[in-house]
Amino acid sequence: MVLGACGAAERRAPSQGQNGVRAAGYDLEVVPFDFELGGRKVSSWGYNGGIPGPEIRLKEGETLRATVRNRLPEGTTIHWHGLPIPNEMDGVPDVTQPPIGSGEDFTYEYKVPVSGTYFYHSHVGMQFDRAVYGPLVIEPQQESLSYDREFTLMLDDWLDGIDGTPEQKLESLESGGSAMAGMEGMGEGMEGMGGTGEVPRQWPPDVVYPFYLVNGKPPESPEELRVNRGEEVRLRLINSSSASIYRVALQGHRMTVTHTDGQPVEPVEVNALRIGQGERYDVLVNAGNPGVWQLAAQAEGTKKIGRALFRYGGSSASPPPADFEPPELGKKLLLYDMLTAAPEAEAPPGGEPDEVVPITLNGDEEKYIWTINDEVFSEADPIEVGRNRHIRFEFENKSMMPHPMHLHGHFFRVQNGTGRGPMKDTVLVEPMQKLTIDWLSDNLGDWAFHCHMIYHQESGMMRVVKVA
Ligand code: C2O
Ligand code: CU
Repeated sequence: MVLGACGAAERRAPSQGQNGVRAAGYDLEVVPFDFELGGRKVSSWGYNGGIPGPEIRLKEGETLRATVRNRLPEGTTIHWHGLPIPNEMDGVPDVTQPPIGSGEDFTYEYKVPVSGTYFYHSHVGMQFDRAVYGPLVIEPQQESLSYDREFTLMLDDWLDGIDGTPEQKLESLESGGSAMAGMEGMGEGMEGMGGTGEVPRQWPPDVVYPFYLVNGKPPESPEELRVNRGEEVRLRLINSSSASIYRVALQGHRMTVTHTDGQPVEPVEVNALRIGQGERYDVLVNAGNPGVWQLAAQAEGTKKIGRALFRYGGSSASPPPADFEPPELGKKLLLYDMLTAAPEAEAPPGGEPDEVVPITLNGDEEKYIWTINDEVFSEADPIEVGRNRHIRFEFENKSMMPHPMHLHGHFFRVQNGTGRGPMKDTVLVEPMQKLTIDWLSDNLGDWAFHCHMIYHQESGMMRVVKVA
């Protein structure tokens, strides 16, 4: 089946449970399109003219074949965020392939190596701050969780067509426009420095967006997740935002975290979780509290939220106000220290690393330059590591911004003091924090490694890691 043929209504709710799509062929036309946001018509770019793009859903071991038809005025690519696939399918322009030119087609094809919650997006310039993203769900051969219903929720921060364009925003940051951008809402959630084990504070973001969307919808006209009392509900949370970290909570319910970045963890029950750009969390919710409830994603360092509604069948209660912050946001928050990898997770080799690579994260807020080991991407040499080696990256964040660091082509273990830290592909490194990750360099090629805050990535915070 070709998903491109789906109706708009189906696209807007890509996550209504199992949809039976198993076939490998997808058609993704990247096009300019219009949609309505807060009573305004917005022109942007997206896949098959929707936001988010169509859900791609396969089983582990199946072959994904996606033909990208570029109808944009400039080049594009697709990156399959989190999947360890062959390098030439990874979709990084000028690193793994030339950009797909305007008017050209390109077919990605690879065997899906692992199950879990992923997403796909353009990797060219500032395109990611438009609508060029969509969910990618890989079902396991044998599902070990039991649940009655599932929903995929993509969190996005939106400015395109409302507050200029992403390129204009980057220009204004480069000319000093970031100063105090996030002062609004400060004073809330200042729980202290974000060292391991402490609740991280809410750092002011570089960009405060006019809208925070859940599955392409603003808080005023949210998506409704319809559930029935007694059901076990799986939520796949994907932060496809360019510049926003969120705190997520579901009013009146607790969440049991089962996966992060597609990889299973020992279940842990929390009231709220924090999700950085590029991160994913799967949670189970026991639907035992009938009503209509706010599923809120509060943008860190602001008073703004994105939301969906959790609505029980038979409930006629009126929904909470658009900006309602559930009290759960202030209760038990998931920290990396609470996570341990499940036995069936991918695992790096134990013991001492073969190679240790220091990674210093720094920046100049004034000039809006962001660096890895004091160099911007355009001036830096690749980081070279041997093949099938146990690699350790030792992060030191010397800046006053959190950086969601993402490594392509591999999972890594976050060393959180448990000895069995979670396996992830994206990790938030807090201001002034030191953090260690370990990984097995078992995938040959040139892999992008970067901050997933796209304005930092574009301003230098990226490297190629060469596994040879
Ligand atoms: Cu989701 Cu290199 O990115
Ligand atoms: Cu960053």
